[in-house]
Formats: sequence, C-alpha cells, structure tokens
Amino acid sequence: MEKRGYWKTRLGFYLAAIGSAVGLGNLWRFPYILSENGGGAFVVLYLLFALTVGLPLLVGELILGRTFRQGVVLSTESLQPIPIFGTRRWLSLKWVGRLSFLLSVVVLSYYAVISGWVLHFMTQFFFAIFSSTRTTFDPSLDPLLTSGWMQMLLASVHILVTLVVVLKGVQDGIERWVGAMMPVFAVLLVSLVIKSLSLPSSGEALRFLFYPNFSQLSLSSFSHAIGHVLFTLSVGFGTMVTFGSYLKDSDAIASSGFRVTIVDTLLSFTAGLLIFPIALGAGSVELGATRTDPGLLFETLPRFLMSLPGGAFFGLAFFVCLYLSALGASLGLMEVIVSNALDWSKKKKWKVQRLEVVWTLGGLILLLSAIPAFSSVIFRASKNSKGFLEWLDAILINGCLPLVGLGLSLAFSHGLSEMEKKRQFIDENKIETQALFPYWRWALKYFVPMVIIVSLILQILNSI
Ligand code: PFF
Repeated sequence: MEKRGYWKTRLGFYLAAIGSAVGLGNLWRFPYILSENGGGAFVVLYLLFALTVGLPLLVGELILGRTFRQGVVLSTESLQPIPIFGTRRWLSLKWVGRLSFLLSVVVLSYYAVISGWVLHFMTQFFFAIFSSTRTTFDPSLDPLLTSGWMQMLLASVHILVTLVVVLKGVQDGIERWVGAMMPVFAVLLVSLVIKSLSLPSSGEALRFLFYPNFSQLSLSSFSHAIGHVLFTLSVGFGTMVTFGSYLKDSDAIASSGFRVTIVDTLLSFTAGLLIFPIALGAGSVELGATRTDPGLLFETLPRFLMSLPGGAFFGLAFFVCLYLSALGASLGLMEVIVSNALDWSKKKKWKVQRLEVVWTLGGLILLLSAIPAFSSVIFRASKNSKGFLEWLDAILINGCLPLVGLGLSLAFSHGLSEMEKKRQFIDENKIETQALFPYWRWALKYFVPMVIIVSLILQILNSI
C-alpha cells in the first residue's frame, strides 16, 4: 500500500499550488466574465472577495488537510457534526467533502475538453509558422464545435498527459513537472504582455480594466465574482485540502495561503493586460460590448495575432502558455481525485495501487468528457447563443461552487476544535499570525456565509 507523500521543498508546494490556481480560469474565464460584468467595477468586487472570501477559505482547506492528513472526503467525515438549532438532531458535514469531490470530477471532464481546444490551436499555429501561405489558417472554433470526435480525441491526449504525470506521485510527478513548466510560462507571458501593451489600444484597455463604473454591475455580478474567485484559487474542490495534507508540520499555512492568493490575482490582472489590448485592437469590439463569450480567447485573439507580422510565433507562444497553465491546473484536479480515491480505498482496506486508481479514474473522466464534447454538436443552436459547456460552467461555478464554499465555512467554523485551528494557524516565528487569527475565525464564521447567502439570493432575484 502506498505511503502518503510529502512536498520535497516548500517551493515545490508553492509552485504546485500556484500551478493549480493559475489556469484557464485566469486566461480564459477571467477576461470573458470581466467583460460580461462591465470591466473595472467587477475587478473591484473580485479583489474584495479574493481577500475576504477566497483567502480565508483557502487557508481553511490547507488546515483541514494538514489536520487529518487526508483528502477532503475523509477529512470532512472526521469533523464534529453540528447541532441543529432547536432540535435534537445533528448535521453531518460529510456532504461538503462529497460535493467538492464530485465537482472536481465534473469540472475536470470539461476542463479537459477546453484544454483540448488549446492543444488544437497550439498545433495550428505551429504549422502556420511553416506554411508558406499564412492565409491558409483561419483561426475558428467551428471545426471543433461541429466535431464531437475531434474534441474527444484532443481531450484524451490532454487526459493522458495529465495521467502520466500524476502516476509518478507527489514529488516526482506534480512537484517536479510544475516546477519545470513555471519559468517557461512566466517568460512567455511577460514577453506577450509587452507586445500587447505596445498596441495603440492599450490605453483604452487599461481604462476598461481599472476604471470602475459601478452602474455596469448587475445583481448576479456578486455570485459571479465569488464563484470565479473560488474557481481561480482552486477552492471548493478539495485541491488545497490534498495539498495541505502533504505539508510538513513546520510549514506556515497562513502566509502560504496569502502568497498563493496574491500571485494568482496578479496573474489574472496580467492576463487582462495581455488580452484586452488585443481584443479591443481587433476592431470588431468596442468597450462595454467586447465579445463576451469564450470565443474572445479562441477566435478574436488568434485572428488578430495572425494579422500581425510574425503573428504565428506570438500565437504559438500564447497557446503554449495557455496550455502549460491548463496542464498545471488539470494536474491539481487529477491529483485531488486520485488521492481521495486512494484514501478511500485504504479506509475500506482494498488492496489497490496508485497505478490502478489513476487509470480507472482517468478512463472515467474521459468517458464523462464525451458529454461536453458532443454537446456542442447537439445543443449549439446558433453561433452566438450560449453553448452547453458555457451553461454547465455557469451553473457549476456561479451556483454549486459558492454552495460548497458555504458548506466549507460551516465545516471550518463548527467542525474543527478551537484548539486545533489555533495550533495550525498560529506560527511561532510569525508573530502577526496571532493578531490575524481572530479575524480569520470571524470571517469564516460570519462574513463568508453571509456574503455567499446574499449573493445567491441576488442571483435568484436576477433570474426571475
Ligand atoms: N484554478 C484553476 C483555474 O483558474 O483555471 C481551475 C482549477 C484547477 C480548479 C484545479 C480546481 C482545481 F482543483
């Protein structure tokens, strides 16, 4: 039976956590929900919720993982149940862990399909560099959206790459690979941002991103911001519980959570700086009417890149960057699924190896990915209507994920003893953790549940 892994170095943990947080959420989802919710004002909401909702929950997940040294499913089973007010009954917190696990399986199945799109564009740009006539490549999602098999094929390549890395375990798999990918990702991203900011539309883009016009927000912007914060920080899927379970007792949890949040948020802004000058420069878009569907990244942007001198190189660099980020995030999701299954089989005393679990779950996720892959062929009514995948994404991220966040805040506040929380949160060498502890506890007990409940009510009001 496999022994539980540990991070070899603290840097390894940071890189894996940041690699999991930074993904399609930053480069694909953030720009399009930002433009759907009016730009600068949404950035303010997003920042506010990242620090007051996302960060406390992220720290809570790391603490939960290190306390029980198990994934989210078994950790939440070990929590004390909560007495139900006015009755003699108790509420078990098991459902929170099971829902997070389910969410990671479903999200990975469509994340793999979108990562497959990225692979497609990556190869197209690669061939465009060598083709003599640049006009032969017209970047469009249509060939993919009209072929379920093509999407399945690309998704299976992506799942296979993910499985091969996860198979190697924590240190030789995720820690080493993400560590090697990150510098390449950073260099590519910075050079692309410099190129993008040199475009004439950059001034307009900066205004769109950083000038808040609160009248652009709608009632549903609150739950969109919370859902996106949780998604981008990989909170609510059990990822940070698993990553926390590999931490050493001497690692400082609160400052680790803070650093991951800051880096992820800065990367989202960097993605905005990269994408908006290009999207606005593409001509077909105006402020406030920027193309809002996911096609922003997969059509507007590659077309514009192809129209630039040397555009195929920039296109390739951009999609390699996007793919590396998608891979880092998929590794996080897959590691979570596998480690929860391994914990579960250990509890049941089943004699299974990591290898068997990895292949079985990989096969299951591949099967599930057929639903989003074929849905674009079956359900897509017209080019401008929202596809099934976007609906699924909206329901899961704007609805289910905040609900899991609510459950997690209950779990951390009422299911873990005060002493344990203090022991895990407060670091002797970091005096400020003592001062921060009561705020963290207060945020999880009152602020986070209240904000999530209000935002879900506003979302319901907005849709009736
Ligand atoms: N945070 C990733 C992103 O922004 O793309 C998505 C994600 C990765 C969610 C890993 C959950 C997870 F476990």
